[in-house]
Amino acid sequence: MSDRIELKKAKRLKGEIIPPPDKSISHRAVILASLAKGKSVVRNFLRAEDTMSTLNAFRKLGIKIEDKGKKIIIEGKGIHGLKEPADIIDCGNSGTTARLLSGILAGNPFFSVLTGDDSLRQRPMARVINPLKEMGAEISGRDKGKYLPIAIRGKRLNAINYNMPVASAQVKSALLLAGLYADGETKISEPIKSRDHTERMLSSYGVRIDIEGLKIKIKGGQELKAKDMDVPGDFSSAAFFIVAALLIPDSDITIKGVGINPTRTGLLDVLKTMGADIELTNIRNISGEPVADIHCKGGRGLTAVNITKEHIPALIDEFPILCIAATQADGMTTIRGAEELRVKESDRIKAMATDMRKMGVEAEELSDGIRINGNANLKGASINSYGDHRITMAFSVAALIAKGRTTINGISSVNISFPGFFEMLKRLTR
Ligand code: S3P
Repeated sequence: MSDRIELKKAKRLKGEIIPPPDKSISHRAVILASLAKGKSVVRNFLRAEDTMSTLNAFRKLGIKIEDKGKKIIIEGKGIHGLKEPADIIDCGNSGTTARLLSGILAGNPFFSVLTGDDSLRQRPMARVINPLKEMGAEISGRDKGKYLPIAIRGKRLNAINYNMPVASAQVKSALLLAGLYADGETKISEPIKSRDHTERMLSSYGVRIDIEGLKIKIKGGQELKAKDMDVPGDFSSAAFFIVAALLIPDSDITIKGVGINPTRTGLLDVLKTMGADIELTNIRNISGEPVADIHCKGGRGLTAVNITKEHIPALIDEFPILCIAATQADGMTTIRGAEELRVKESDRIKAMATDMRKMGVEAEELSDGIRINGNANLKGASINSYGDHRITMAFSVAALIAKGRTTINGISSVNISFPGFFEMLKRLTR
């Protein structure tokens, strides 16, 4: 099967969709339910390559997980119930799997090895390994512990006070999970607030966790209580359709059941500042997370914005699609303080700048961000996905407003977070 698709200009986007379940929350549901004592049912679990990496990892660690499609049933064995895996654990493309697991395995008294695909083996691991070593962990990895594969010999950990140099929910979560295995109280401080799903879910599983602004404290030795939960829709997947609808005149779509945790929805704030027509209705709570239906209409002109470091964590995964929105805004959009985007599934700053230029956009790559000249008339081109799901989906949206045909290469990458993306796009453009 060819791994590319040809797309052309769309007249409008119309209809109602339900986005796939949240990826971050699905990972965490498997992890916390495995560490809890007893049976937990997770409904609306994301069945995508990344989250299956986490599910398979916990099976290798001896956890029984019954797979009933979107519903999974996990027989948790408590924080000390994991067993030594008989083989290396392959985290695939998933940074969340590799980093959160490192935190857990560091405190478990057995030997384990984590690896990943070509992309994940180039992504920084020292950011979790260094603080875990401070907690007493025994971890070694490629290039002095900077990259996967890593080998972990778990042991009893000690609590530390740690000021995180980068705002990263993966690092924060790894340390909170390691904190469960530590003697004493682990104190973590983030430079800018990153997504807080781990904190919310740990409390709903009965763990006492103290949060004061950017400071979080967790005492070791606490047990998790099994709990059923529902995963809300993924805002980061919905984001592609939100921007597509805004950029195509006459569009009118409703995206139902989307997670709107404020640590995730920075893109909404930015788009509203740019002048977008977006309305949230039916705001409710699902398993401790705020959820809404998002209604967007196209055709209103957007104005350029200036985005700085403090905005980045709440829109970290929306950088590619925000770049596409900026190509249609009036004026020059600048995004800075976004150097983390260079170490995602691909170097997303370089990927966006390079391939937007192929479509006729004036884009300047900065060391920590990008400058994009708006009011661009996009033209069809042959786009490289760099094997990155979010680059693939962002350029698929760009193709819908470009003159001529656009070929997107490497489309199977969408299976990382959003299997069925192209079918959903087709349904809305029909
Ligand atoms: C994630 C955190 C973010 C995000 C990633 C998922 C998570 O990564 O980009 O897609 O589930 O914790 P960082 O923590 O590295 O910023």
